[in-house]
Amino acid sequence: MQHFSGGVRQFCCQHTLEDTTTCMEHHRNDVFAPIDIDHVMERVAGGNETEVYRSDDHRFVVKLKGELGSRDAAKLADARSMQQAARRFAACLGPRHAIPTYFVLSRDSEGFVHALAIQPYLANARVLASIDWKTIDVAQRRQIGRDLRHIIARAVGCLFRTGHLPDLYGRVSASAAERKRRKQLRYLAERIWSFLVKRTILHSQNLMLTAEQPPRLVLIDYDEVRRSPLYRVIYFLTRLILFGRDLIVIWWRLERG
Ligand SMILES: Nc1ncnc2c1ncn2[C@@H]1O[C@H](COP(=O)(O)OP(=O)(O)OP(=O)(O)O)[C@@H](O)[C@H]1O
Ligand SMILES: [Mg+2]
Repeated sequence: MQHFSGGVRQFCCQHTLEDTTTCMEHHRNDVFAPIDIDHVMERVAGGNETEVYRSDDHRFVVKLKGELGSRDAAKLADARSMQQAARRFAACLGPRHAIPTYFVLSRDSEGFVHALAIQPYLANARVLASIDWKTIDVAQRRQIGRDLRHIIARAVGCLFRTGHLPDLYGRVSASAAERKRRKQLRYLAERIWSFLVKRTILHSQNLMLTAEQPPRLVLIDYDEVRRSPLYRVIYFLTRLILFGRDLIVIWWRLERG
């Protein structure tokens, strides 16, 4: 196993019309060869385990798992199972709330093979966690509430039909170092508190509101829980209870009145 190093970094500052400066982080690595001709991509986000890069033409994102590089053919089996999960969850949620995910195997500059997930880039879309609800009008808030209830119902249907549950929540960390730090035992209580109390579905990092007219609420993370059967049963049961809590939160914050 090999941790993806991300290749050479370049920080390019651009002056916009409003005379502000935006800085983008570019990464050069041969792993991007299947999608980008100069092998340089812009990092747009880092989630829980994944680094997310955008193609130069802003049409696609490439998702790269930090710790899943390897030299062996087992990568192909990994990619197939990730593809199967992505297809399953997309089918469960239906086309209105899903986007396609494609997988390719690619070798990085150090010779390690990675499974890249490729999706359309949702330009100007916002994760639910970043939405300032005061800026959303009542009708749209109600529509988002309806969509969220629909997505939860579909996710629960998926669990009972297939035994798999899409992650409608997700987490975010600023860097690989922060990610590693938060996995330490002394942060366990904080993580449990965050999982059970703080992070309702309105704090989701995996559901994005698109900039289309009318906007769509779509799932962008199609990974499945890769843990032991016992962990999965406990996790899914807890999630079912938390869905109940979230239906109340949705009604209270988005649909009441
Ligand atoms: N298709 C997309 N278009 C635009 N932005 C995206 C897209 N996919 C992901 N992002 C951004 O990248 C972030 C992380 O993506 P994602 O949820 O797939 O990774 P992750 O949470 O690290 O995955 P995992 O939990 O499996 O480690 C999202 O919260 C979102 O801000
Ligand atoms: Mg995520």
